[in-house]
Amino acid sequence: MSINLKGRHFLTLLDFTPEEIHYLIELSEQVKKEKKEGVFPRRLEHKNIALLFEKNSTRTRCAFTVAAVDEGAHPEFLGKNDVQFGKKESVADTARVLGRMFDGIQFRGFKHETVEILAQHAGVPVWNGLTDSYHPTQILADFLTVKEQRGHLKGIVFSYVGDGRNNMANSLMIGAAKMGMDFRIVAPKSLFPDTALVRTATEIAEKTGGSILLTDHIEEGVRNADVIYTDVWVSMGEEAQFEERIKLLLPYQVNTKMMALTGKPDTIFLHCLPAFHDTLTDVGADINKRFGLTAMEVTNCVFESANSKVWDEAENRMHTIKAVMIATLAD
Ligand code: CP
Ligand code: NVA
Repeated sequence: MSINLKGRHFLTLLDFTPEEIHYLIELSEQVKKEKKEGVFPRRLEHKNIALLFEKNSTRTRCAFTVAAVDEGAHPEFLGKNDVQFGKKESVADTARVLGRMFDGIQFRGFKHETVEILAQHAGVPVWNGLTDSYHPTQILADFLTVKEQRGHLKGIVFSYVGDGRNNMANSLMIGAAKMGMDFRIVAPKSLFPDTALVRTATEIAEKTGGSILLTDHIEEGVRNADVIYTDVWVSMGEEAQFEERIKLLLPYQVNTKMMALTGKPDTIFLHCLPAFHDTLTDVGADINKRFGLTAMEVTNCVFESANSKVWDEAENRMHTIKAVMIATLAD
């Protein structure tokens, strides 16, 4: 079956079939290989890409920028303090202006509704670079990394540990269901994901041969895991909640004891990053001073171990984002 994604938005993986997701991962493998071989086909020549950011970013911003330049496109960074967006001009009006000048728009921000309004009005492909609800480009990089390590995605035992109701948990759950994985959210019950989204993911998994398990029991949740994944305990925009989250999530810290509970010596550790694995950040140092912790969601020992593939995963953000732009924009 030939797949054509030209003109499509990329807002959540719910909008894509398993075949379309496989296609994007295969295209990512192809563009990664090309770049390693020094081949640059410049499939986005003369395209202009708007990069609209309400929240901070290292990986997503750099991935879109480098991928666009590699393909001959021009990326333009539009930070929330640089443009009228939302302050003096509505999201819909901004979308209509940007759509007249740019060929594609990346948005990172707070409400998921904002990226939907942009998509409704822009008239050009809109890509979700993270909202409070979803982070779909990250999932492509995560799954490419798993495929590189394990050779396949179907049947992979994937345990996501920590804040089970954030954008990463939501997106991984949907993506894993589409790929037919045995997916577990290992979290305190108060941080389980939205019930309706779990129902949707479970229905998808029933069709793909995958499964979805929510558990607050660590041994059960990580047993046989091929992948242990975690994310920050406090996402962007939730900074006031550190104390409460630390209390809830400290038992769910990924450490060598938890890695051993998988029963597999080669369980991969993944994290979308940035990660609080030491005290070498302002936030990490402050948390150390206030709560005496030297790490939060993952210990430095696991983060720096041979099982940790976080740098491959971070690099893969660029190859997968390049694939998304090519698939939805290239002539
Ligand atoms: N993983 C990720 O989205 O990183 P940034 O916040 O640095 O873009
Ligand atoms: N859940 C995190 C992901 C960062 C890439 C956040 O939203 O801050």
